[in-house]
Amino acid sequence: MMNNILKNKKVLITAGPTREAIDPVRYISNHSTGKMGYAIAEQFLEQGAEVVLVSGPVSVQLSHPKLKIIHVNSASEMDLACCLFYEQLDIVVFSAAVADYRPESIADQKIKKDESSFTIKMVKNVDIAYEFGKVKSVNQVSVGFALETNDELKHAVGKLNKKNFDMVVLNSMNDANAGFGFDTNKISIIKADLTKTDYPLKNKSAVAEDIVNEVAGLLLLKNNFNPVSVAMTA
Ligand code: CTP
Repeated sequence: MMNNILKNKKVLITAGPTREAIDPVRYISNHSTGKMGYAIAEQFLEQGAEVVLVSGPVSVQLSHPKLKIIHVNSASEMDLACCLFYEQLDIVVFSAAVADYRPESIADQKIKKDESSFTIKMVKNVDIAYEFGKVKSVNQVSVGFALETNDELKHAVGKLNKKNFDMVVLNSMNDANAGFGFDTNKISIIKADLTKTDYPLKNKSAVAEDIVNEVAGLLLLKNNFNPVSVAMTA
């Protein structure tokens, strides 16, 4: 479905994992491939939006005249890149698997295996979505992701409230063929009015279309756009 409402709208998407350095050659990261975030970017572009993709290290690629990709490694780099755009955005989608913690200090030299064991002290990273939630304007739509192993709905609603999201995309780790690394995904969408919609297992581009259509609906509601006049002027 084409949503004229998204034409020339400014969208920021975070995608992929972050890497938190331990020393010059090692890091802590996670299994995110960025496929879902990139599929969402592609769908917004197809519907005429301008997209900034702030991406952790991934092997997926995308290019489009209305796409700007900013490549980052760590959570702090991702945060700094995102902050540059917040005021001008209509929509923000936080699909990145941001590391919640990073090593307190990064060793200058490669750590040698001299000791039989050693401890890395981890400190909390900035919560990018939470920080945006505090400054979000009434017309902006923000979307969060939640990947849960238990009490999925309870945790998703908790994130919706805490991070001031308009909608949370819930992935369950308990669903076969969904989540990290798969080309398919099975999601539920929970909105701020606490309505929950369950979608069947689909490929990630079809899932992206469902997500983008839901976002378009929320943007329409928040901004009282008249779809008829938008279509006529598009
Ligand atoms: N997120 C973010 N910055 C972080 C951590 C998370 O922007 N430092 C975003 C993710 O992109 C996702 C949402 O917040 O959209 C939920 O992230 P998650 O890590 O699952 O939630 P937490 O609140 O960190 O809770 P927990 O890890 O305890 O489940």
